Amino acid sequence: MTTATPIPMVDLREQYLTIKQDIDDAIADVLNTTQFIMGQNVRSFESEVADYLGVSDAISCANGTDALHLALRALGLGPGDEVITTPFTFIATAEAIAYVGATPVFVDIDPLTYNLDATLVEQAITKKTRAIIPVHIFGLPCDMHTLQALADKHSLHIIEDCAQSFGAAVDDKKTGAIGDVGCHSFFPSKNLGCFGDGGMLTTNNKELADKLRVYRAHGSAKQYHHSVIGYNSRLDEMQAAILRQKLPHIDTYNRERLRVASAYCEQLEQLNHLGIQLPLLEAPASQGKAIPVFHQFTLLTDKRDALKEALSAQQIASAVYYPIPLHQQKAITDCMPASTPCPHAEKTALRCLSLPIYPEMSQSNIDRVCDTVKAALT
Ligand SMILES: Cc1ncc(COP(=O)(O)O)c(C=O)c1O
Repeated sequence: MTTATPIPMVDLREQYLTIKQDIDDAIADVLNTTQFIMGQNVRSFESEVADYLGVSDAISCANGTDALHLALRALGLGPGDEVITTPFTFIATAEAIAYVGATPVFVDIDPLTYNLDATLVEQAITKKTRAIIPVHIFGLPCDMHTLQALADKHSLHIIEDCAQSFGAAVDDKKTGAIGDVGCHSFFPSKNLGCFGDGGMLTTNNKELADKLRVYRAHGSAKQYHHSVIGYNSRLDEMQAAILRQKLPHIDTYNRERLRVASAYCEQLEQLNHLGIQLPLLEAPASQGKAIPVFHQFTLLTDKRDALKEALSAQQIASAVYYPIPLHQQKAITDCMPASTPCPHAEKTALRCLSLPIYPEMSQSNIDRVCDTVKAALT
């Protein structure tokens, strides 16, 4: 064990310090106004996000999981409906499908992008299919052109899970502005993160936006008049005030993440002949011009556990996102009919390792991570 300075997966304190005064002032303002719920910061943040993403409506909510749940409810999905999604994602994506009583149908991933393989989706569509949830995993956009064409052909909804992709784009459209609705998470470690939980729904469909506003507020469009059973799912003023200070920096944060990812790729490319697979710096050209935002930098190696140990011995964090694909998680297999195998997702789950990545990461720390990876794998 060395006494080197630890390198974390993400350094939230360093980011806070770069805009400390702005954040502290924004929090103090909320405390002074004592308007803690559904105030001016929430309203302004919603319109700033709508402008940034290029959508007509942005509806804030309590977290990214609720955003997915609210989207499925507002689109009217329920028991008997099937929703196609990826098995290589955080459990929240499938949990939301289960919350409304619908059935998740898992389609395997593309082994290079780690995203839902759009070319396999059509064969999974049945009479019961109502929606597709593409997850822009690790910040790399999915093949939205192919998915949108399938959705149009089969009259399906597209609910984008943008929890890891805030600011990413395909051609001239930001993720969250492509499908029927985009679901965002502001969990602290996300590319745009608050200091607690937070979420957002984005859409260009006014009717859907109105429904989402009703569902997030106890099923009421007018106070104490309840038309449906809804939820209490609000972003609070404190989080909105913090997010408003961070939003103007998101393009810089994402550019800096790309800087780190590019530096990793440049230094680790030489390991390719050892069977290491590095993440793509951009999606295949056939999928349009897709701009990634590197929420995670995830490589594949057969020596995953040894590499994790070697990094840990040098005080360098690493993480396995995700060790078990969703179609093999007990919570999911207990509530759905036998699923078809997803061999690429299964293999990826056994070999994946995410390295530290955050906008403020120094070149010397990047070098230290790369030297350790190279020493461990060669
Ligand atoms: C892909 C994905 N979807 C949904 C979520 C849920 O977001 P939240 O933690 O804000 O509920 C996450 C969060 O980790 C996620 O990574």
